[in-house]
Amino acid sequence: MAEIHQDSELPDPYRLTRVVADGTLSKELAAECRAVNLGFHLPWPDSDFLSHYAHHVRGERLWAVHAEPGEADRAAASGPTGEAGLPGLPVATLASYDQTINTGHAHLEPADFITDVTVRPTHRRRGILRALITHDLEVAIDQGLSMAALTATEGAIYGRFGFGVSTQNQHIEVTSDERFVLSHRPEGSVEMVMPGDIDDLRLEVFKQFHAVRRGSHGRLDWWVDFASGRWSYDKQEPDRRLRSAVHRDPQGRPDGVVSYRVPEDFGTAMTVSDLVAVTADAELGLWEFLASIDLVTTITASKVNPGTPLPWAVRDPRVVRLTGRGDLTWVRILDVVRALQVRGWDHRGSVLLHVIDPLEWCTGYYRIEVSDPDRPAEVTRLDGDHPDAAVIGIAALGSLYFGGVRAHSLAGAGHLRGTPEQVQAIGRLFATDDLPYSVTEF
Ligand SMILES: CC(C)(COP(=O)(O)OP(=O)(O)OC[C@H]1O[C@@H](n2cnc3c(N)ncnc32)[C@H](O)[C@@H]1OP(=O)(O)O)[C@@H](O)C(=O)NCCC(=O)NCCS
Repeated sequence: MAEIHQDSELPDPYRLTRVVADGTLSKELAAECRAVNLGFHLPWPDSDFLSHYAHHVRGERLWAVHAEPGEADRAAASGPTGEAGLPGLPVATLASYDQTINTGHAHLEPADFITDVTVRPTHRRRGILRALITHDLEVAIDQGLSMAALTATEGAIYGRFGFGVSTQNQHIEVTSDERFVLSHRPEGSVEMVMPGDIDDLRLEVFKQFHAVRRGSHGRLDWWVDFASGRWSYDKQEPDRRLRSAVHRDPQGRPDGVVSYRVPEDFGTAMTVSDLVAVTADAELGLWEFLASIDLVTTITASKVNPGTPLPWAVRDPRVVRLTGRGDLTWVRILDVVRALQVRGWDHRGSVLLHVIDPLEWCTGYYRIEVSDPDRPAEVTRLDGDHPDAAVIGIAALGSLYFGGVRAHSLAGAGHLRGTPEQVQAIGRLFATDDLPYSVTEF
């Protein structure tokens, strides 16, 4: 049986099933894939696409929502309320899996990663997403996970479920003609490699990056299929224009890897599709290499480190233009005490927070004390009322947690309420030496 019925709070006439994802391509798994592609405007999957999908979602929790058969039959006669027009296809999907998030000071915290959220247009705004995501988060809480994460296609959807932006990326455009000159030589060397030959090296470099970078979200190993160009979901075929290069430190150890493409023959515009660098030298060394490639005069990259040294490292800072900045990952804290205990703190302090959770799980009063940043914080959930506590929503706490936003910005935006002294104390305690950064879209 490739589907298991699950209890949930779905409105009538919907029922929730969990699709078995063991790597084999069942008819239910194919239907899930078709529904996901429908939701994200991807082409209908062919057999090649389906077999990649079956491989990539292996081990994930795949939720599918169907309209009850009776309803579907009725819908065929009365309008688009059932599955009749798209028989067998779920009307909604959500997938999740366990991965880790770097919460600072090299701690990797297991978390629930949510993806492939779709609701068919004819079934929207009936509470299906609310029921699906609540169900998935309850499963995560039962498993003892302290946080959940996602990346969002639209920014207005997930705040109401307690998700706050945890990392932001920059989008840049770099002029790569003779004006691109670094003001100092980064250490190490760069070599070009066959993109499909370095899977182990890619995994190793990402592992190093993930271990040291606050805010980094883990990747499933199959991302090397994309980074190597072996498979592209957009194109539904290998990407034969993809090129790769590796950066090595002076001892010859790989510490950076980039994949890029020039979409046109003899083209002058390049796009960076994946750049993972463990050190500033690796990041600058790879950029120097990219800028040295003949014919190319413009390089665009999204998912750039918000604290990148690049604009400060070129002699003419105007060759690096910031063209955008946006949220990449969103985090939902599910267990405030554990999440705060496993956070890497850079400053000492003591604050009292009244956390408000729209789903109620985390609503309560919490005292946080950091007496030594090298040791875990002491976090206590307090009984009773504490009117002197500063008030913060769980989504805002998720953002503050990673250090990408300052407390006074949250206070100005109305997401943190307290006296100026409280806001200052919270700001000092939660400030981080490094900006959070993730390169993982999921
Ligand atoms: C976004 C989507 C999943 C919402 O599904 P849905 O079943 O209509 O959502 P629900 O009916 O459960 O709505 C839950 C709440 O979210 C709000 N909401 C839903 N979609 C929203 C959107 N796109 N923008 C703003 N608010 C939205 C609803 O108004 C409702 O608010 P309320 O409970 O406070 O009244 C669906 O529209 C969709 O599939 N979109 C295309 C694919 C996509 O963008 N997926 C998200 C991937 S990250």
